[in-house]
Amino acid sequence: MPSVFIKTYGCQMNERDSEAVAAQLVAKGYTLARSEATADVVLLNTCSVRDFAEQKAINKMRNLVGTARSEKRDQIVGFMGCMAQSRGKELLDQLPDVDLVLGTQKFHRAAEYLDELLAGKRTKIVDTAAEAKSEAAIREHLLNGNAKTSVSAFVSIMQGCNQHCTFCIVPATRGEERSRTIPDIIAECRELAARGVKEITLLGQIVTSYGKRGWSSNFSWSEKTPTPDKLKLELQHKTAFVQLLDAVHEIEGIERIRFTSPHPKGYGDDLVEAYARLPKLCESAHIPLQSGSDRILKLMHRGYTREKYFGIIQKLRQAKPGIGIYTDIIVGFPGETEEDFEMTLSLCREVAFDNAYIFKYSQRRDTPAAEMADQVPQGIREERNERLLNLVNEIAARKYDAFIGKQVQILVEGPSKKNAARYTGRTRCNRIVLFDGSARHQGQLMDVKIERTGSFTLYGDPAILE
Ligand code: SAH
Ligand code: F3S
Repeated sequence: MPSVFIKTYGCQMNERDSEAVAAQLVAKGYTLARSEATADVVLLNTCSVRDFAEQKAINKMRNLVGTARSEKRDQIVGFMGCMAQSRGKELLDQLPDVDLVLGTQKFHRAAEYLDELLAGKRTKIVDTAAEAKSEAAIREHLLNGNAKTSVSAFVSIMQGCNQHCTFCIVPATRGEERSRTIPDIIAECRELAARGVKEITLLGQIVTSYGKRGWSSNFSWSEKTPTPDKLKLELQHKTAFVQLLDAVHEIEGIERIRFTSPHPKGYGDDLVEAYARLPKLCESAHIPLQSGSDRILKLMHRGYTREKYFGIIQKLRQAKPGIGIYTDIIVGFPGETEEDFEMTLSLCREVAFDNAYIFKYSQRRDTPAAEMADQVPQGIREERNERLLNLVNEIAARKYDAFIGKQVQILVEGPSKKNAARYTGRTRCNRIVLFDGSARHQGQLMDVKIERTGSFTLYGDPAILE
């Protein structure tokens, strides 16, 4: 049977899509190749969020076709995902050796198209059309190949985004918001629990808008447990997303729930309360900030102010002390002045993020920000990136050090990639912990005491608990 190798760029959604495509191909008899050099088919699952990510995938494809040609190997190669969606056929004009371009609503067609290409029935396939119900078309999981995925699984709950932040290409690559129904998602989570999964991360481009479009929330949240009428009534006042959290929380065997990415405007009181109310909901939140300047937030079309954002963080910390707060920030958005940037620095100091991903603004085609006057010179973007990174790292290191001597619960994912004698797990607040473990620890929830810290890692010892 043909073998396939999938390389993934970008976010966790892309990781999840690649996993689902791999599982779909394995179910159809394909094998997974260990490397691109030995594979009959190589697929690059691409990211379009920044130009750098696109260039990486294009260069990779150039190398692949160059090597295959010089070694006279017949290899089917394809792009899928976000860049495939946004560039479509244009990719074939640029790289004529590419055989397949598969858009974000067509992942479930991968096996069918590869079969046709391998059988020589067709020589090129480009499919980037929209497809109704594609958000629910991919449910396959590949739990055996990778230690981590057998303990912790990603479940896609929605596709697309209607927020239209002015810098962002995602609404173009992923389309309109479409949500899967709660029963459909719960069925997938139950199957995962039956296969030993203990942690579920609910995924979507803007999960807090779950169910707001094209899906009604008249769902009785528990099929099994009778619910007191009063609680039922209360639940009807909850957003669809919180109803979904409630429903996942009921699944036996699931010990931890996470989600990504939310939007700050989705942190209503019902979601804040959910942190205090649902013990399985882990105390960590990735809440994209983007900028600390109200003027820039408005130009970005983010829909909140600095004060509103800070208020949410305070409420969350009240509801769940010790909650890990992570964020995304863009530096050098068009028109960002030194004063605006200093507002971002000062908000970072006030919030004291556990960690932040910092991005230099990248002009994306067909987005409103790309057309704005006052694009910030590259040198200034670099300089602000470095200043912000220094501040974020300094605060993060302090927060890591505060764990020394503390006892934390971890979910053990498997052997560390760098050193097989070490095992790796995550705290509830989503920090990586390494410890001297063995196969018997795999998949366990266990307590460890933190002895020391490394760069973005905690080192724990299970043997010295009081
Ligand atoms: N809500 C989405 C956001 C996707 S993009 C999600 O996480 O699923 C992820 C991050 O990339 C954004 O939060 C933003 O900080 C950054 N980003 C998006 N567009 C960008 C651009 N044009 N330039 C630089 N960074 C960008
Ligand atoms: Fe992009 Fe903003 Fe949606 S960052 S994914 S348009 S919330």
